[in-house]
Amino acid sequence: MAYASLGDFIKRLDKAGELRRIKTPVSPVLEITEIADRVMKMPEGGPALLFENVKGSKFPLAINLMGSRKRMSWALGVEDLEEIAAEISALTKLPSDVPSTFMGKLALLPQLSVLGKISPKMVTSAPCQEVVKLGDEANLDDLPILTCWPDDGGPYITLPLVFTKDEGTGKRNVGMYRIQKQGPHETGMHWQRHKVGSRHFANFEAKGRDIPVAIVLGGDPALTYAATAPLPDEIDEMVFAGFIRKKPVELVKCKTIDMEVPADAEFVIEGVVPAGVRRREGPFGDHTGYYSLADDYPILKVTAITHRRNAVYPCTIVGPPPMEDKYIGLATERLFLPLARLFVPEMIDYHLPAEGAFHNLALVRIKKRYPGHAFKVMHALWGLGQMMFTKCIVVFDEDVDVQNPAEAVWRAFANVDPERDIAFVKGPIDVLDHASPMMAFGSKMGVDATRKWPDEGFTREWPDVLTMPTEIKQKVDSIWKDLGIK
Ligand SMILES: Cc1cc2nc3c(=O)[nH]c(=O)nc-3n(C[C@H](O)[C@H](O)[C@H](O)COP(=O)(O)O)c2cc1C
Repeated sequence: MAYASLGDFIKRLDKAGELRRIKTPVSPVLEITEIADRVMKMPEGGPALLFENVKGSKFPLAINLMGSRKRMSWALGVEDLEEIAAEISALTKLPSDVPSTFMGKLALLPQLSVLGKISPKMVTSAPCQEVVKLGDEANLDDLPILTCWPDDGGPYITLPLVFTKDEGTGKRNVGMYRIQKQGPHETGMHWQRHKVGSRHFANFEAKGRDIPVAIVLGGDPALTYAATAPLPDEIDEMVFAGFIRKKPVELVKCKTIDMEVPADAEFVIEGVVPAGVRRREGPFGDHTGYYSLADDYPILKVTAITHRRNAVYPCTIVGPPPMEDKYIGLATERLFLPLARLFVPEMIDYHLPAEGAFHNLALVRIKKRYPGHAFKVMHALWGLGQMMFTKCIVVFDEDVDVQNPAEAVWRAFANVDPERDIAFVKGPIDVLDHASPMMAFGSKMGVDATRKWPDEGFTREWPDVLTMPTEIKQKVDSIWKDLGIK
């Protein structure tokens, strides 16, 4: 199911009792963070919030729209994320399943026709350009941009879709990179060095060229999710969003730069990132729960701001987990399992607990088939896209529920002989990691928490986990009510 706009999604949440409208005037400086933080720490992630009176801005501000499993699923147009995971899984099976018979090929047509219906479409007029402000009129002060934490380097746009194009091929990329407001017409560009936006800029800069950039806010929430998804570079996020929403994303040409942006967005900030310019960006209260340190990043000079007449400003906050991004990460975990399994088929399941800030801890469940199998799996994962950032990978046997971190901790600590079962490797580290000896380069740890085999040199007896026989469980089930235990 596709949403015509962010407003359409907000309406659905409102109708379902998932949204709280806040009329009390509140400041975007720290106050909204404190309110949203309390809400995001409620069981199941708390409700979505619409602040209708943000001091200093005429625009309402929406936050925590995707902040529960249910709302994250609704954002992607399904009742539960597993529905999309199942569709992706079906697609991954296409190549090996292509049947040899004519009838078999025919049976695949419905699946293939889906692919033809998801490419973006160009339109000539768009709600996101109902109001067009150019030059000095394009003023970031008009937006209710949050100052999230006390030591932040400034106000930050926290849910931006950053559109760039490759210098040579013109291929689009959309990534979510925080945007620090550095004045009414300038921002920082925190695309980390491993990310595609950063590479696009580097290629322009190498030729002495400025890169055009559009920062988009809102639209169907599937688009916002797509900007965060760790897609292979060759996959256009707007095609992926089209796949999720089962409807092409409509794009319109920007007013001042060579870029196409979602027609149904709330706001579009158009601008240019000049070659050869760097400025201090940060610190920023980050999703690790710590401030990420200030560093030098490129800047954007705003050339236009366009928006809907009744635009809503979407945002989030990050900080000590759990926050709204717990559920964005959960979507990635579920949707990317079938894709990761193309490369690591023995992986039955994995879980990236929010407490591990996604890149600090992965719990992996495998069907172990040979000595050292757990080590093979951790190395394979470190070689897989953004999984390269995972600081600690713990690999379990198939009988461990990695979705239950309490069980995983119990089993890991019981099963591990640290000297024998822990491997340290060196490699790229998440830019936000403050503990690595160097920025973006350091060590990672793999833990083999599987049962050890004789042909791994383990000659002692390995005990069984305690379980009760089924007949005893059934007997107790049958008398449970009579026991009067509540
Ligand atoms: C709320 C949120 C904020 C993020 N902020 C940044 C950021 O400031 N810089 C960055 O490089 N990645 C950030 N990310 C992660 C990227 O969006 C993510 O790695 C994405 O896959 C990058 O896309 P790309 O591979 O097309 O560059 C953020 C993710 C979320 C959910």
